[in-house]
Amino acid sequence: MKAIVREHYGGPEVIEIKDIDKPSPKSNEILVKVYATTVNRTDWGVIAGDPFIFRFFIGLFSPKLKVLGTDFAGQVEAVGEEVTMFNVGDRVWGLRDEGLESQAEYMVIKQDAGVLKIHDTLDYHQAVASAEGAHYAFNGIMKLKVKAGDKVLVNGGTGAIGSAAVQMLKYFGCYVTVVANTKNLELMKSLGADKLYNWEKEDFTLLDDEQYNFVFDAVGKSTFGKCKKLMKEGGIYISTELGPRAENVYLPLFTYFSKRKVKFPIPQKIRRSLLFVNRLIKEGKFKAVIDRTYKMEEVKEAYKYMITGHKTGNVILEIAK
Ligand SMILES: NC(=O)c1ccc[n+]([C@@H]2O[C@H](COP(=O)([O-])OP(=O)(O)OC[C@H]3O[C@@H](n4cnc5c(N)ncnc54)[C@H](OP(=O)(O)O)[C@@H]3O)[C@@H](O)[C@H]2O)c1
Repeated sequence: MKAIVREHYGGPEVIEIKDIDKPSPKSNEILVKVYATTVNRTDWGVIAGDPFIFRFFIGLFSPKLKVLGTDFAGQVEAVGEEVTMFNVGDRVWGLRDEGLESQAEYMVIKQDAGVLKIHDTLDYHQAVASAEGAHYAFNGIMKLKVKAGDKVLVNGGTGAIGSAAVQMLKYFGCYVTVVANTKNLELMKSLGADKLYNWEKEDFTLLDDEQYNFVFDAVGKSTFGKCKKLMKEGGIYISTELGPRAENVYLPLFTYFSKRKVKFPIPQKIRRSLLFVNRLIKEGKFKAVIDRTYKMEEVKEAYKYMITGHKTGNVILEIAK
């Protein structure tokens, strides 16, 4: 089968398309014919081994997994003898953020890992675009314990994480202010933004006079120091990035007894996120934002575009038609 592989950590230049052996499922695994993956910021962490601490999980000196890919949508082609949750022919989607070797024509995954059946209304592209960003968005929102009426500011509402977070926060009945760029202000309104700042022209930390329960920096371009004055007493700041000098990792400790706190959302419980997103999809309350679609042979271009940091929502990599 064809697979997108790399032997070493690096940028898009280390990527190759190679013919390798098709995997076969163990007793508790399903074999999936992959139709689509995304090329996302988690893939960037996996391919570059960045931040360095990530290498303790994915291989200290060289990557443990040679095939790239962290998410997928496809069809079950075979099942191991102990598999009870899936049947041959099921359409499935999922994620594993330490790497899943999904950027290949076939992949295997344990039946009880981050994999679910795709809702009938979704095609493979929409399904796979509902995994990675949505998982981190939900993981962050779980840290905040939002309730209806809370005011939340989302910085970077246009990213895979941000665009999912805005939709989820509206689902929970929050008032949501979004910071985005000029070309995406209408998109943000369509996702439910109540108030908008255009980061290319305005500095929300200087202009905004609201008091928020929560600030969710989904692009990691702000700091707690700058956002503190926008937060109510009891307010919480979270970011998807480590921040300058990795401050978002130690500030949770330093602000533990403060009136305004920082929390760092360590990603966990992928299956919980996928189940939640599936519920929203069924209720018609979530639609993943898709930016560009690349073919498998254009994979280097897809990675180059993703690492610009300017994609809108998700970038799809089509593996099979
Ligand atoms: N903690 C984790 O486990 C984890 C996991 C995945 C990702 N991440 C990190 O989380 C961040 C977001 O990930 P993502 O997948 O959502 O990224 P993404 O899809 O690349 O989105 C980033 C978005 O931010 C916008 N943006 C750029 N500069 C901005 C600014 N100054 N103010 C407001 N918006 C700005 C970009 O659009 P425009 O430039 O067009 O405005 C883009 O739409 C990344 O930094 C990524 O490394 C963390």
